Amino acid sequence: MIEFKAITKDYADSAALQAIDLCVASGELFVLVGPSGSGKTTLLKTVNRLVVPTSGQVLIDGVDVATGDLQTLRRHIGYVLQSSALFPNMTVMQNASVQLEALGWPKARIRPRIEALLRLVDLEPTLYAERRPAELSGGEAQRVGIVRALAADPKLMLMDEPFSALDPVSRRQLQALILKLHRELDTTILFVTHDMQEALHLADRMAVLHDGVLQQVGQPQAVIAEPANAFVADFFKDVIAGQRTLAQVLAAGFGRPTTAAGKPLPATTSIYAWANALAAEPRLAVQVGQTQLDATDLIGYLASLDQKEVPHA
Ligand SMILES: Nc1ncnc2c1ncn2[C@@H]1O[C@H](COP(=O)(O)OP(=O)(O)OP(=O)(O)O)[C@@H](O)[C@H]1O
Ligand SMILES: [Mg+2]
Repeated sequence: MIEFKAITKDYADSAALQAIDLCVASGELFVLVGPSGSGKTTLLKTVNRLVVPTSGQVLIDGVDVATGDLQTLRRHIGYVLQSSALFPNMTVMQNASVQLEALGWPKARIRPRIEALLRLVDLEPTLYAERRPAELSGGEAQRVGIVRALAADPKLMLMDEPFSALDPVSRRQLQALILKLHRELDTTILFVTHDMQEALHLADRMAVLHDGVLQQVGQPQAVIAEPANAFVADFFKDVIAGQRTLAQVLAAGFGRPTTAAGKPLPATTSIYAWANALAAEPRLAVQVGQTQLDATDLIGYLASLDQKEVPHA
């Protein structure tokens, strides 16, 4: 378990982190999400002491990271960055072995270990082990960076926007890979992204940061269902809009109270399912509890969502 206790980080002209209290459970895939400059990287780096907090403590399994030996700490934490930061003059095998060499593993054990991990990330060793970084795509280089971070079987992986430089297809593939690795390996992952879609897709739980202040912590569905404040609601607004249901249409005041029989639909029905039903049958009236809705209600509701989005004739 990682515990951040009242972590504050002040720079000369900014407060990067303000009294952050946060617990990440062992085995979680935990995402730190927020806009650029919100303090995500700074918070992540307090774990491997690349950043020393102005005040507060980080505990890993109850032990303050400030107390132990720095090299030992870092060798037991996997670290993956936006650019894979591979050594250009070294092969994939050599790059991926760096951590194990430093830990003094015998050569005879290193090779099979790295080959197994390359297979795990879908890089066939006979094709990739002897290549150099210049002979890899961006996505392949990130996979090698992940293998390097996983080599020593760390209990904890720190990942700082590892996929943000990739095209959307590679990004999707590597997100799926991370979910697979997280299922198969017994590793806690602390993952930083500014992309809310990525956060929602990956996170067991997530923490939303803004201006160095923790805004909300929770499971993605819980954050979307109940944003803690206006910042969080705005940050996730595209997704929240995509999750609109008949309950929200009623709450916005649309519909007429009647018990006349329309097609009964539960209040949890998405407005898109409703729109589909209307596309097939434009005159359809639907009955949600004691309230009836028709096509004009859907149009009125959509128009009310964001006046700025209504096109001008
Ligand atoms: N070494 C430093 N010296 C001074 N200010 C810094 C330093 N590192 C970070 N900051 C400031 O601290 C704040 C948080 O930075 P941080 O890198 O943690 O943001 P971030 O959330 O990771 O952003 P991004 O999504 O752009 O990577 C920013 O205002 C940044 O300018
Ligand atoms: Mg950052």
